Amino acid sequence: MKKKNVSIIGAGYVGLSLAALISIKNNVICYDKDLEKVDKINRKISPIKDDEINEIFKNAEFSLKATADPNLALKEADIVIVATPTDYNIETSEFDTSSIEESVQTILTLSKNSLILIKSTVPIGYTEKLRKKFKYPRIIFSPEFLREGRAVYDNLYPSRIVVGNKGVDGEMIKSLLLSIAHQNNEKIKCYLTDSGEAEAIKLFSNTFLAMRVSYFNELDSFCEKFNLNSKSVIEGVCSDFRIGNYYNNPSFGYGGYCLPKDTQQLLKNFEEVPNNLIKAIVDANTTRKDFIANNIINMKPDTVGVYRLLMKKNSDNYRSSAIQGVIKRIKAKGINILIYEPEYHEDLFFNSEVTKDLSELKERSDVIIANRYSKELSDVKNKIYTKDIFNTD
Ligand SMILES: NC(=O)c1ccc[n+]([C@@H]2O[C@H](COP(=O)([O-])OP(=O)(O)OC[C@H]3O[C@@H](n4cnc5c(N)ncnc54)[C@H](O)[C@@H]3O)[C@@H](O)[C@H]2O)c1
Repeated sequence: MKKKNVSIIGAGYVGLSLAALISIKNNVICYDKDLEKVDKINRKISPIKDDEINEIFKNAEFSLKATADPNLALKEADIVIVATPTDYNIETSEFDTSSIEESVQTILTLSKNSLILIKSTVPIGYTEKLRKKFKYPRIIFSPEFLREGRAVYDNLYPSRIVVGNKGVDGEMIKSLLLSIAHQNNEKIKCYLTDSGEAEAIKLFSNTFLAMRVSYFNELDSFCEKFNLNSKSVIEGVCSDFRIGNYYNNPSFGYGGYCLPKDTQQLLKNFEEVPNNLIKAIVDANTTRKDFIANNIINMKPDTVGVYRLLMKKNSDNYRSSAIQGVIKRIKAKGINILIYEPEYHEDLFFNSEVTKDLSELKERSDVIIANRYSKELSDVKNKIYTKDIFNTD
């Protein structure tokens, strides 16, 4: 494939991992509003925690550039990838897509003919509306399926490549995404679809994952209530190959940046479609957090210790982690909270005390809640409340 000028707007998990890989064979520049991030990238320090990104950054030939000046980033672009946030807006009950619209406006002002590829997750029907709004047909959506902490790996070994365009531009994006994947890539399944289908594939995939998490969580709630061994029940259920023994570890709820917001967005897209399941998947997460919090409140502790705010073991952020919902519920009952989170650098987290000293957490807490268990808690096992049975994410 001919070397291309690729600009990436938003150097977060999605944008930066794509930038790192695409820059191996193309000229890539990142544009981000966050000056600290821009500075780190230019100093060859990864702003996100990801082993593979760190490896790429260490390579002497690696020369990814970043800027906070859209002029510098966009003028010469053949392709502009948009990977800005689409947070859920509680008031409108759907994604806030303003960062994408702002990006498209800037791109069209500065670079008249580039192909715009949206990698941010968007509502179903959004790309078509965007093309009409800006009277610009060369806007394509391609869902991103990476997991945080494995961002580069998941683009090197993608589960599938989906591009929401069946024409020449769609083929070009497919080739670009294949070109960054591992060498033996003829086995990667590629789907060129219309934009609405590509958007639906993303939201239905994440909602299925949320459903699976919720299913094993409700199974676990049932087992706790009736004093059954969850582990035995899950193992017995999952030995049916149609169900499968994976992604079945109970937790305090599904969380992280994507699953909570993507399920709620899909529910909004279902507004005019009769449904029970999609609504239940959204509601199940609230019910699970209520159940967990009530169990802890019923133990009547004076101080509840929180072992990590993170959602997953190897994550470097705690965006929408389920444990935060549990903390809120416990705190509302006047119970004292003490949080241990080495990745958090303030003294207070929403008015709860934070410590970096694990032994202080162990000493001062009557109960310690841990969404994911760690061996470093083994000396206070009698204080631990966790739902982590299999020690997986
Ligand atoms: N994180 C994931 O695991 C994941 C997986 C698949 C899809 N997605 C989707 O990808 C999108 C981005 O997610 P992320 O996790 O990479 O986000 P992120 O918060 O890690 O990164 C977004 C970046 O965009 C920058 N930014 C925000 N507004 C901007 C603007 N107007 N102009 C320039 N830069 C701007 C921010 O400074 C930030 O660096 C979201 O829509 C998300 O749903 C995320």
